[in-house]
Amino acid sequence: MMTKKSEATLKFEGKEITLPVIIGTEGDKGLDISQMRKETGLVTIDPGFVNTASCFSQITYIDGEKGILRYRGIPINELVEKVAFVDVAYLLVHGTLPTEKERMDFSSLLNRNSLLHEDMRHFFDSFPQGAHPMHILSTMVNAMAAFYPSVDVSTTARDIERSCARVISIVRTIAAFAYKKSIGEPIVYPRHDLSYCANFLNMMFDSPVRPYHISPEAVRLLNVLFIVHADHEQNCSTTAVRAIGSAQVNLYATIAAGISALSGPLHGGANQAVIEQLRMIYNDGDIDKFIRKAKDKNDPFRLMGFGHRVYKAYDPRAEIVRNECEKYLTATGINDPLLDLARKIEDTVRKDSYFIDRHLYPNVDFYTGILYRAMGIPENMFTVMFALARLPGWVAHWREMISDSTKIVRPRQIYVGRTQQEVGNELDSRSPALLI
Ligand code: SDX
Repeated sequence: MMTKKSEATLKFEGKEITLPVIIGTEGDKGLDISQMRKETGLVTIDPGFVNTASCFSQITYIDGEKGILRYRGIPINELVEKVAFVDVAYLLVHGTLPTEKERMDFSSLLNRNSLLHEDMRHFFDSFPQGAHPMHILSTMVNAMAAFYPSVDVSTTARDIERSCARVISIVRTIAAFAYKKSIGEPIVYPRHDLSYCANFLNMMFDSPVRPYHISPEAVRLLNVLFIVHADHEQNCSTTAVRAIGSAQVNLYATIAAGISALSGPLHGGANQAVIEQLRMIYNDGDIDKFIRKAKDKNDPFRLMGFGHRVYKAYDPRAEIVRNECEKYLTATGINDPLLDLARKIEDTVRKDSYFIDRHLYPNVDFYTGILYRAMGIPENMFTVMFALARLPGWVAHWREMISDSTKIVRPRQIYVGRTQQEVGNELDSRSPALLI
């Protein structure tokens, strides 16, 4: 995509330099500082990269102020209504929605790469009972590098294609096997006659003594949930994938790093934390007490599922998921008191100046747990669901990064430690560091 350019002037210590300003296709502007250190000796400081763009990307566009999310230019609410998750996976990775033939070829590639190597199946026996499925998932995905041909920048396009499909397909199998293992049931193998989402539900819930009825409503809902989680530009886990991948680490280790980053409660782990928090508030009964805690600077308590680094308007994904709660729970006749509580919390918070002033709205994680509960997904698998959905996004960013032949990620720092000391008369370890 062509970008337009402008420029900015930087004055420092009597010097004046002109820096290019890159203007993206949707108008976002970036100050290009790639020559700044060479010309001025200055670096920038931006903890958490709140104001820093790490790359150029054509995959996903978010307008946080307007609550806009588009994958390859297509709005998220159109995608959830018109196509399936496999189409969106293809769109993210290849740049366009698949034709009929491309879709058939892609589905068959996913099927051909859905079986986990039998020797890897025995790894599950070594995990202790109660091991969190996210830890199992990142371990198993890392181990894939020992069982499948390495995939890195030197791999042929055809092998990259197959390996990306393998990640999107086998990781789904690993997730279902981890669940079966955790409940002591025999694993259920993937089937070529089932769609991506139906296959996952069948691997999760089918059993030799209790054949699972694959409900079309559950398959539809899972497609929607996977689509809304499929990508989100340079979030923490995708940044981890790009950073690890920039060292030319193989694809599996790169994806394992994304899974690990996603497991954090401030990131993908929030969907499990939301349900745990709703249950705690439900049992306590005093919503206002917890909202006061969330606002109290001296209290580490935060309202999980609220706030976002980019969205300063309602997260469009949260809106889709909240509407699905209504639809699915009504269709299945489920009455979940935690949904009523979640709605009450949202209504209260949205009238509270603390949250209004900080543009804190529900994010994608606030309502998803209600739906996973309704589908029979156990809480410790909620973040695994997020990881499965995010696989095409991570794979798409990895491919974009290796095709851009990006430099290895290696930021600078500002050192504020001790100046040079000699052995024997180094300053007392309690000496104050330089005043920052
Ligand atoms: C995801 O990046 C992505 O795109 C991520 C994601 C994706 O699809 O990949 O969208 C998925 O990770 C969603 C976020 C899930 N996490 C949570 O729901 C955890 C709870 N939310 C927060 O911890 C927080 O809002 C973050 C981590 C999501 C965003 O943190 P920021 O951008 O660093 O914002 P901040 O911590 O600087 O907060 C700004 C202010 C602070 O108050 P002041 O210091 O200005 O007075 O808002 C307050 C914060 O204390 N605040 C909250 C709050 N979130 C922010 N106060 C109470 N409850 C909260 N949830």
